[in-house]
Amino acid sequence: MDWFRHRDGQLYCEDVPLATIAERVGTPAYVYSARTIEHHVEAIREAFAAVDPLICYAVKANGNLGVLRVLREAGTGFDIVSVGEMHRVLMAGADPTKIVFSGVGKTASEMQSALEAGILMFNVESEEEVEILAGVAASMDRIASVAIRVNPDVDPKTHRYISTGQAETKFGVDIERGEALARVVAGTPSLRLVGVHCHIGSQITSVEPFARAVARIAELATTLRQDIDTVEWLNMGGGFGIYYKDGKAPEMSAYAEAIVPLVQATGLKLIMEPGRVIVGNAGALLTRVLLTKQSGTRRFVVVDAGMNDVLRPSLYEGYHRIWPVLGDAPPPLGDEGGFEPCHVVGPICETGDFLAKDRPLPDVGRGDLMAVMSAGAYGFVMASNYNDRCRPPEVLVRGDEMAVVRVRETLDDLVRYDRGDAPFEQVNA
Ligand code: LLP
Repeated sequence: MDWFRHRDGQLYCEDVPLATIAERVGTPAYVYSARTIEHHVEAIREAFAAVDPLICYAVKANGNLGVLRVLREAGTGFDIVSVGEMHRVLMAGADPTKIVFSGVGKTASEMQSALEAGILMFNVESEEEVEILAGVAASMDRIASVAIRVNPDVDPKTHRYISTGQAETKFGVDIERGEALARVVAGTPSLRLVGVHCHIGSQITSVEPFARAVARIAELATTLRQDIDTVEWLNMGGGFGIYYKDGKAPEMSAYAEAIVPLVQATGLKLIMEPGRVIVGNAGALLTRVLLTKQSGTRRFVVVDAGMNDVLRPSLYEGYHRIWPVLGDAPPPLGDEGGFEPCHVVGPICETGDFLAKDRPLPDVGRGDLMAVMSAGAYGFVMASNYNDRCRPPEVLVRGDEMAVVRVRETLDDLVRYDRGDAPFEQVNA
C-alpha cells in the first residue's frame, strides 16, 4: 500500500504532484510519503496486536531526521547499528528505552555511548563481544542488558547478499552455542540476559522462514527462562519483503498468524526490527532524462541519477519500477507489449551503473521526468559521492504539503574534508 498515484495525467505523492517537487528542488531527488510510513507502522501494530510488539524501526533503511520524527511520533522504537544512528534517533527525539543496538562489530566506545544514553538492550553476536561489553559496563559501574543474537540456520530464500540467518554468515552465534553463551551472560555481574534475538535476512517474501526462525529462538528462550528470570524478550529481527515488481508480498496478517501463537506460547514480549516494509514503498527517486542513445541493438536512456544515488540495482540486481511522471499510469506488469525495452542508465563511469535493464518504456526523451519507485528503503542511505556527485535532497510530503528534509549537497560539501595543502610533518618512529 502506498500513496503514489497517477491521476489527471501525472504522478502524485499524496496530494503533491511530483513534477512540482522536481521544479522546486531539481533532480535527482528523493520523495517520501509520511502517510505511507504511518500506514505501515499501523498495519504491523494491528496485525500483531495480540502480542503488542515493540516495533524498533531499523534506522539503516532510511535515517533521514524528518522520517525518524514521523516514526517517533507514530510511537516506534529504533534498531540502531552504530553510534551515528544513535545520534540521529536521539536528535529525532527517540526514547532511549526503546532503542536496541545490533551489529556484528560494535566498538567499545560505541558500547559506552549507548550505555550512557540508557538504551534498552544490546543484541550481542559473539563470545568476544560479550567479553568486551562486560568489561565496558563494569568499568562504568553499569549493568548492560543483553539479547543473544543466534543464527537459527534458516534459508530465507532471498538474494545472497542480504541473507543473514544461515550458518556460514558472519552474523549471530550458531544456535547450538546460543544457550552456553546466554548462560555466560547470565553469570556475568555487569550483564543482564534479557532475551534472544535473530534476524535471518531482508526482502523475504514468504512466511515460512520467519515461522521456523521464531520457533527456534522461542525454544531457546523457553529453556533459558526456566532458570533465568530476567529473560523477557523475543526479538525476531526485520526482513519483511515488499512489492517491487507487482502487488505480491504477504499481508502482515499472514505473518502474524504464523508468528503470534509461537510468541504467545512463550509468555515473552516481542520485539521486531522492520525497516524496508515501513519505508520502502513510501519513497520514490525523481530523475530526469539527460539524453537517449543507441548502442548496438540497445536503446539507452541516460538519466541524471546514477548508482551513487541508488545502488540497489547495481549491487543486488534490485528491480525498481521506473515510469514517466507525466502521462498515464504504467500498464500492469507483463502488459507492456507495445513498449520498447530500454536500458535505463546513470552518468557514472561504470558499466554496472544501471537503474534498469531491458525495461519496456514509452517513448521518453530529453528532459522527461521519471520516477524510480519503491526507493524509500536502502536508497539515500546507500548513496555516495562517487564521481564527485552531490548527494540528492530528500523531500517529505504530508497531504498537500512538502518539506525539504535534507538539502542537496553543494560542490563545497564535496571538498569539505580535503586538506590538499596540509603540511607534511616529521613522524618519529
Ligand atoms: N535488523 C537487523 C539486525 C538487520 O541487519 C536488518 C537489515 C534489519 C533489522 C532490517 O531489515 P529489513 O526489515 O529492512 O529487511 N541494503 C539491502 C538490505 C540490507 C539489510 C541489512 N539488515 C537492500 O537494499 O536490499
